[in-house]
Amino acid sequence: MEIDLLLRIAVAFLKDMNLEDFQKLVYETSFLVSDINSFENDKIPKDSDNIQKNKYSSNLFSPEFHITSPRYEAEILLGFILNMTRVEIHANPKKEINDFNKQRYFKLLAMRKNGTPLEYLTNRVSFYNLELYVDKNVLIPRPETEILVDKAIELMNQHNIASFVEVGVGSGAIITAILKNTQNTYGIATDISKEALNIAKHNAEVLGVKNRCDFIESNLLDSPYIMLQKPISLLIANPPYIANNYPLNQEVLCEPHIALFGGEKGDEILKRLIMQARQKNITHIICEMGYNQKASMQEILHYTNYEVAFYKDYAGLDRGFVATLCK
Ligand SMILES: C[S@@+](CC[C@H](N)C(=O)[O-])C[C@H]1O[C@@H](n2cnc3c(N)ncnc32)[C@H](O)[C@@H]1O
Repeated sequence: MEIDLLLRIAVAFLKDMNLEDFQKLVYETSFLVSDINSFENDKIPKDSDNIQKNKYSSNLFSPEFHITSPRYEAEILLGFILNMTRVEIHANPKKEINDFNKQRYFKLLAMRKNGTPLEYLTNRVSFYNLELYVDKNVLIPRPETEILVDKAIELMNQHNIASFVEVGVGSGAIITAILKNTQNTYGIATDISKEALNIAKHNAEVLGVKNRCDFIESNLLDSPYIMLQKPISLLIANPPYIANNYPLNQEVLCEPHIALFGGEKGDEILKRLIMQARQKNITHIICEMGYNQKASMQEILHYTNYEVAFYKDYAGLDRGFVATLCK
C-alpha cells in the first residue's frame, strides 16, 4: 500500500470512521490483520463504551475527547513508524509501506482513537524548544508551563540566583529548560514517583545538563537531603492542582493521576508546599496553579508573609504566581 492511500484511510479513521468500517477498508485494501485481537486488546471504544466516555463529557475546559487535527496526527504517527519527517512523507506519496509497518501503524491509530495521547505513542514531546522523552509515567508538559520557565529565568537573572529546587519534576521539562537557558546554575529536582525521576534523569542526560542537577525521591520538601549542602532560595513547582472529582476527558485521564489530582479541592498540595517553603525560609516561590485558585493562594501566601504577583496563561486564565518573602 502506498503512503497517500494509507494516510487517507488513517485520517478517515481518526476523524469519524468506526472500527468496523475501518477493518472492512483495511481488508478491502488487501491488508491482512494477522492478529485482530491486538486491536481489541487496546480496548477500542464500541458503542457500549460511550456510557463510560460520557461520564467525562461535561467539562468546559476539557471537553469530551476527540481528535482535532486528524491529518496532522496521522502524519506524525506514520512518520514515527517510518522514521520520516512530515516533509519527507509529503514528498513521497507513492512510497510503498510493507505489511509489518502497516500493522504497527494501524495499532497506533487504534490506540490513538481510543484516547492514548499522541505523545505517549511517539514517546516525544516538544517543550521550550527541547525534545523530551515521555511515557505514561509522567505528565505531558503543557505549553502554558513554558510561562513558568520564563518567570523562573527572569527572576534568577534579576536576583542573581544560581540554584533552585523543583518539586514534582515529572519528565524534567522545567528543570532542563531552565538549566539549558541559564549559565552556571544548578537545580535539585524532587518527585514522589521513582519512575518520573528516572525519566527526568534520562532527559537531563540526553540534553546535556545532568552534571548540573540532582534528583531526590521525596514527598514535597520532606527529604533532609534537599538542603543538605546549602540553603536554597528559590522553589519552583508545577504540582498536581486539579480537584479529585473534576471531570477530565479520557485522554487526560491516561496521564498519571498522582500528577493531576491535588486533593479534594485541588489546592491542598500547593498549600502544604507553601507552608514548607516558609518553614525553610525560602525567599522566592514560583508555582503553577489552577485557574480558580487565586483567592486561596493569595490567602495562604499572605498568611505566610509572602508578597505575590499572579500571572495568566495564553487563554487569559489565572495560572500561576511569583511570591517573595517579605523582609
Ligand atoms: C503536574 S505534574 C508536573 C510535572 C512537570 N514538572 C511538568 O511541569 O511537566 C506534578 C508532578 O508532581 C509529582 N508529585 C505528586 N505529588 C507529589 C508529592 N507529594 N511530592 C513530590 N512530588 C509529587 C507527580 O509525580 C508529578 O510528576
